[in-house]
Amino acid sequence: MKLSPAAPLSVTLLLFLLFLSTTTNAHNITKILAKHPEFSTFNHYLTVTHLAAEINRRQTITVCAIDNSAMNELLEKHLPTYTLKNVLSLHVFADYFGAKKLHQITKGSTLTATMFQATGEAPGTSGYINITNMKGGKVGFANEDNDGHFAATFVKSLVEMPYNISVIQISQILTSPAAEAPVAAPSDLNVTTIMAKQGCKAFSDLLKSHSDVSKTFAENVQSGLTVFCPTDGVINAFMPKFKNLTKDGQSSLLLYHGIPVYNSMGMLKSNNGIMNTLATEGHNKYDFTIQNDGDDVTLKTKVVKATISGTLYDEEPLSVYKIDKVLLPRELFKGVAEEPAPAPAPKGSSKKKKTKKGDNEDMEEDGAPEPSQEDDEDPADESANLNWATGVKSTGWLVTVALSIICMTIV
Ligand SMILES: *[C@@H]1O[C@H](CO)[C@@H](O)[C@H](O)[C@H]1NC(C)=O
Ligand SMILES: *[C@@H]1O[C@H](CO)[C@@H](O)[C@H](O)[C@H]1NC(C)=O
Ligand SMILES: *[C@@H]1O[C@H](CO)[C@@H](O)[C@H](O)[C@H]1NC(C)=O
Ligand SMILES: *[C@@H]1O[C@H](CO)[C@@H](O)[C@H](O)[C@H]1NC(C)=O
Ligand SMILES: *[C@@H]1O[C@H](CO)[C@@H](O)[C@H](O)[C@H]1NC(C)=O
Repeated sequence: MKLSPAAPLSVTLLLFLLFLSTTTNAHNITKILAKHPEFSTFNHYLTVTHLAAEINRRQTITVCAIDNSAMNELLEKHLPTYTLKNVLSLHVFADYFGAKKLHQITKGSTLTATMFQATGEAPGTSGYINITNMKGGKVGFANEDNDGHFAATFVKSLVEMPYNISVIQISQILTSPAAEAPVAAPSDLNVTTIMAKQGCKAFSDLLKSHSDVSKTFAENVQSGLTVFCPTDGVINAFMPKFKNLTKDGQSSLLLYHGIPVYNSMGMLKSNNGIMNTLATEGHNKYDFTIQNDGDDVTLKTKVVKATISGTLYDEEPLSVYKIDKVLLPRELFKGVAEEPAPAPAPKGSSKKKKTKKGDNEDMEEDGAPEPSQEDDEDPADESANLNWATGVKSTGWLVTVALSIICMTIV
C-alpha cells in the first residue's frame, strides 16, 4: 500500500532519464569542441553564425575544425558575420569522413558537397570541396575550382561517431571568392518589407508608424527573431481598440508580437512552453504560451488564443509567421475586460467579476463554444462579455455543483 505512491514517481523518473539519454545521443558540436581549447575561436564562431545549431540538426556530417592560429588568418580579413558564415559552412561536409575513409578515397580524389552548397548561395559548384590523397600519405582539401594546389591538409581526427558526425582538424582555412563574396547581411533583412509583401501590410504599417518599435525589431534580427503577424483583416478589425491604447501601450502590444530568438516551425512544434517577448521587461512579463494542438501551433495569452496560419519567412536567424488573432497581453487587456461597463451592469458585481476572471480557462473546458469564441476574437469587447456573464449566472450554480462532485470523486 505504502509503495503505490512511489511507483508512479519512479516510472516518471525512468521516463525522464530515458528522455535525457535519447536527447544526449544527438550530437552537440559546441560541447564536442569545448573539450579542445585550441579550437575555441572556431567553436565561438560556429555559435555566433548559428552554424552550430544547423550542424546539430544534421546527421551524417563532417566538420573540419581549424585551430586558433589558423582562425586568426581568417579573422584578419574582417569579414562581416554573414560572409564568415558562408566561409565556415565550407568546412561542414554533408557526408561522413573518418580518418580511415579519408586515406582510402576511391580513385584517390572525390568532390563532396558542403553546407555552403546547401545554402543555395554558392554559384555553380563553388560549394564543393575536392578531397585528394596526395603523395606521402597526406590528404589535401581545396575548393572544387583549384589549380592543383591543396593548402589545407588533414591533421588529425578529433571525434568519430560513425556515421553521425566526424570532427577532424585541417591545417588551413578553406575558402573561395564565392564564399567571401558580399552577401545580404541579416540586418539587411527588412522585417517590415517582408511582411508587407505577403498579407501582413497592416501590421507592417503599424510597425513603421512606431519607429522605436520597428527599430527594436530590426536590432534583433541578427541575433535571432521570430515574428507573429496578425493578417490584414484581423488588424483592421482591431484598429479601434489599438487606437484606444496609450502610446506606450501601443508599443508594448506591437513588441509583444516578437520573440527575441529564432524559431523554425519544427522548433515551435517541439518547444512548447512560456515564451518571453520583445515587450518583456522585469515584472511586466508580457509572455505567452506556445502549444501544439494536433498539427496546429497555438499561441495562448491569458486573454486570447491565436493559431499560426502560415509562414512568410523562415531562414535562420529570422522567421515570420501569420496568425489569425491579435495577441492580447494580460498586462494591457485584462484590466480593460474587468472595467465596469457603461451599460447597465447586472446586479451583484462581485459575482460578475468572478465569472469573468475564470472565463478564458474555465469556459473552454466547460465546452461553452459560443462565449469562448467571442472571447477569443474580442476579449476586450465589454458588451459581449456582459451578455454572456448574465447568461451564465443562472447556470453558474450547476457548474459549481458539477465541479464539486468531480473534485470529491477524485479525492
Ligand atoms: C550544447 O552544449 C553547450 C555547451 O555545453 C550548451 O551550452 C548548449 O546548450 C548545448 N546545446 C544543445 C542544443 O543542447
Ligand atoms: C581534384 O583536384 C585535382 C587537382 O586539381 C584534380 O586533378 C582532380 O580531378 C579533382 N578531383 C575531382 C573529383 O574533381
Ligand atoms: C547516431 O545517432 C543515432 C540516432 O540519434 C544514435 O542512435 C546512435 O547511437 C548514434 N551513433 C553514435 C556512434 O553515436
Ligand atoms: C525597411 O524598408 C522600408 C521601406 O523601404 C524603410 O522605410 C525602412 O526604413 C526599412 N527598415 C530598415 C530597418 O531598414
Ligand atoms: C475606448 O476606451 C473608452 C474609455 O475607456 C471606452 O469607453 C470605449 O468603449 C473604448 N473603445 C473601444 C473600441 O474599445
